[in-house]
Amino acid sequence: MGKGVSLQHLNHNEFSMKKIVTLDEFIINSQTTYSDSTGQLTRLLRDLGIAAKIINREVNLAGLVNIIGVANVENQSGDEVKKLDIFANERMMECLTMSGEVCGIASEELEDFVKVPKIPGKDSNYVVIIDPLDGSSNIDVNVSVGTIFSIFRRKSPATGECDINDFLQKGSELVAAGYVLYGTSTILVYTTGEGVNGFTLDPSIGEFCLSHPNIKIPERGNYYSVNQGYYLKFDLEMRRYIDHCSDLNLGLRYIGSMVSDIHRIMFHGGIFLYPSTRKYPKGKLRLLYECAPISMIVEQAGGASMDCNLKRILDLSPGSLHERCTVVMGRPAMVKEMKEFIEKYSAPK
Ligand code: AHG
Ligand code: MN
Ligand code: MN
Repeated sequence: MGKGVSLQHLNHNEFSMKKIVTLDEFIINSQTTYSDSTGQLTRLLRDLGIAAKIINREVNLAGLVNIIGVANVENQSGDEVKKLDIFANERMMECLTMSGEVCGIASEELEDFVKVPKIPGKDSNYVVIIDPLDGSSNIDVNVSVGTIFSIFRRKSPATGECDINDFLQKGSELVAAGYVLYGTSTILVYTTGEGVNGFTLDPSIGEFCLSHPNIKIPERGNYYSVNQGYYLKFDLEMRRYIDHCSDLNLGLRYIGSMVSDIHRIMFHGGIFLYPSTRKYPKGKLRLLYECAPISMIVEQAGGASMDCNLKRILDLSPGSLHERCTVVMGRPAMVKEMKEFIEKYSAPK
């Protein structure tokens, strides 16, 4: 017979496991810190967590089922759309529409925003903006992709339908922003303006669990992240800055999926750049779907974020849903250095 171990022989420290805090638990516990504590934002964040799990399941199955491949359509920004983009978009739209907390949704995959019908007796105070699948060119080669989401409080009266002005708000007005990275593990990172927290999906229990509390971008930073293949198409100040990074022996890391590239910066520091090119004179990334939400997260983690005109991205007023903008973000000291290069080398505009 085995000897066994009686629990009373273990002291408390030996026995105690770290308490697992699930995303749902964390969101509910944080509810009291929100200015409006009606629970609507809480429920909305939970619904986004559910959508992330559904997309995660499908991303993981992408190599097994015949869902990947080009769908022969282009999204609003003229990029090639993969089938998984469409799937992710549909699932997110479903989850958010059914939630009852949302009066409108804008998706990178759709030309216009969608008005969500009001549920009788219920006020829907929020609009949600999504990039359902970010980095989609990486899907069929098994490289990390992501989802980006952000939430504005509506400007229009809660009694009626939402309108375009509910979406065309500055990033500084965001009440929450987050991303999900479907990488070696799946992690959901979000902020409501009170710091940034990361939750790793434990597939054995199907829950996002708090794994990275209070994320802060480190002061050091040995990497720069830019599509250096466009070097000759960049403006002089950008070429000079890239030369400077190279002179400093910084490592170049570029995955081509903004969520993945930013996630590395959250933990290893460095700088992410997507400046103007000849093909994309205003930059390729979209202000509302990508740049503003990621800027909120980066700033909340102690980082800095500006466009190549030296304007803080969170202060930019979008003129249209699919507007693009140039991006410089990451460790504040490096963003400041880039600013000096722009001031020194850029041609007056
Ligand atoms: P999306 O897949 O949502 O269209 O976004 C792709 C974006 C972004 O994730 C990434 O940083 C960038 O495109 C990469 O562009 P390049 O291939 O031009 O470097
Ligand atoms: Mn994207
Ligand atoms: Mn996308």
